[in-house]
Amino acid sequence: MALTYRTRKVVKPGDLNSRNTLFGGRLLEWIDEECGVYAACQMETQTLVTKSMSALNFLAPALQGDVVEIGVETVAVGHSTITVECHVRIKRTKQEIVSIDEIVFVNVDDNGRPVRHRKFAEWKAARAAESATA
Ligand SMILES: CC(C)(COP(=O)(O)OP(=O)(O)OC[C@H]1O[C@@H](n2cnc3c(N)ncnc32)[C@H](O)[C@@H]1OP(=O)(O)O)[C@@H](O)C(=O)NCCC(=O)NCCS
Repeated sequence: MALTYRTRKVVKPGDLNSRNTLFGGRLLEWIDEECGVYAACQMETQTLVTKSMSALNFLAPALQGDVVEIGVETVAVGHSTITVECHVRIKRTKQEIVSIDEIVFVNVDDNGRPVRHRKFAEWKAARAAESATA
């Protein structure tokens, strides 16, 4: 599936590390928020938690004043989970600065236990239909 870059952020002085490039912790905060919002919309839930993240690959630095854009797409859907991939790039140059292949979010109930989300059956049916026409 094509990656969609929905969100942009400006790198400001407070976002920098001691080398005056974008601080990795800030970037992770932006990624977790963006992917969490995306996952919540996809699963139609407000009660989800981040379960796991695959290896992060920091590919290039971003500098103060750069506008970075965050792209997210669905990789897989489970009973209570959605797995997304995330790529961040500098808007002007399209230089990718970080990629994460898999971030897993779990839909939880009021007691924090995993619970099936509404989109699971829909997703399965859509994949089955795709396979049938392939
Ligand atoms: C998320 C949490 C409720 C899951 O509990 P759990 O007992 O591991 O859940 P289960 O073993 O029943 O698995 C639930 C789902 O998570 C998936 N899962 C479990 N461990 C996983 C892992 N390490 N990586 C990826 N997916 C995982 C399972 O495959 C299952 O998917 P499915 O329902 O779509 O088939 C629990 O681990 C938790 O509360 N973690 C803390 C979350 C948190 O605080 N995050 C940071 C702030 S948002």
